[in-house]
Amino acid sequence: MKNFRLIAKTATGLEQVLADEIREIGGKNISIGNRAVYYEGDLKMIYKSNYFLRTALRVLKEIEIFRFKDVDQFYLKCKAIDWNKYFDVERSFVIHSTVGKSREFSNSMFASLKAKDAIADYFREKVGKRPNVDTVNPDFVIDLHVHGNSCTVSLDSSGESLHKRGYRINQGEAPLNEVLAAGMLKLANWNGESDFLDPMCGSGTLPIEAAMIAYNIPAGKFRKNYAFENWYDYDQLLFEKVKESNQKVEFNYQIYASDISGSNLLNAKTNARRALVFNKINFLVSDFRDLKIEIQNSLIMINPPYGERLKEKELSNLYAMIGERLKHKFSGNVAWILSSSMESFKYVGLKPENRIDLFNGSLRCKYNKYRLFKGKRNIQLQKKGN
Ligand SMILES: C[S@@+](CC[C@H](N)C(=O)[O-])C[C@H]1O[C@@H](n2cnc3c(N)ncnc32)[C@H](O)[C@@H]1O
Repeated sequence: MKNFRLIAKTATGLEQVLADEIREIGGKNISIGNRAVYYEGDLKMIYKSNYFLRTALRVLKEIEIFRFKDVDQFYLKCKAIDWNKYFDVERSFVIHSTVGKSREFSNSMFASLKAKDAIADYFREKVGKRPNVDTVNPDFVIDLHVHGNSCTVSLDSSGESLHKRGYRINQGEAPLNEVLAAGMLKLANWNGESDFLDPMCGSGTLPIEAAMIAYNIPAGKFRKNYAFENWYDYDQLLFEKVKESNQKVEFNYQIYASDISGSNLLNAKTNARRALVFNKINFLVSDFRDLKIEIQNSLIMINPPYGERLKEKELSNLYAMIGERLKHKFSGNVAWILSSSMESFKYVGLKPENRIDLFNGSLRCKYNKYRLFKGKRNIQLQKKGN
């Protein structure tokens, strides 16, 4: 099968874990970019990427790279692409552009507009009609990446962002993006070889993604459609084979999801039911302060409130309580905390072994790892400021 140049897009900080995932499914010539991983693969790889990659937001197939000296030449080079090879006037399309360091294009809207005109004129000249633009539910998604005077044109094989796995209906407050949650689990080396606890689980994104990884349930299992299903070369049989190639695995540990809010926990249960992992997660309404779960050599992941709704004092008390509980109740485990509140981290009172920069939406966050030693080691380290 023919090999293509592929681009998987992701969130800041998840590039390496995405590259690892791509290697695992057989991607070739992998290199890491900014919020993107470049690699090569055939049609089957495009299907596998969309169906299996947990930390990709979308997967693009490169069709053209060109240089241009001004906007007119950009238009002409867009018009010179043989669009008829990919879609026709009966299908709707949309263009997503990103523009960086360009003197010709001050914004991405302008680049999209010029490319749209070029495509419309291409079809008008060829068949006397032009395809419609549909920004909501397009059949065909074109991706333009303009950097300086160079433009990469790709076909978006995913369509809707891949974080829309298809299992979430109930949001709760401030839910994590599924791709970020999966990335946090991968960064923590979660592979289903211990117990897992999220004591502030909200709508359940972390425990659901943890269960999907532990049981090897594909990221795309519940998703209804992908843009590549509208492509001329769509091979349904091949996609079915890709889906069938997945093998479920045994998981012999426990996943715990708890939250102080009964209604948030209800959301988590509903979402877990839709992801077919309801029976694989132990749900519990509890203040973390009083949580009675016993785990050892396991993984704890916390995405506490950041303070949009809480007063400063409440927030410092909450983070101090988290640190105290981790130290005294959950020693012998590893904990990771994601928060945008740098001030609040200080109240945890533990020395992080690792700090990773991530974004939760537009919020810059730290994702800190704490190894919870038994005894006084954490406290001593913190006092010495090591
Ligand atoms: C930022 S949200 C978590 C969102 C979650 N990761 C998701 O994807 O939906 C923080 C959660 O912490 C919970 N929470 C706040 N204080 C708590 C406490 N003392 N004990 C347990 N849960 C608490 C809130 O009810 C809320 O659901």
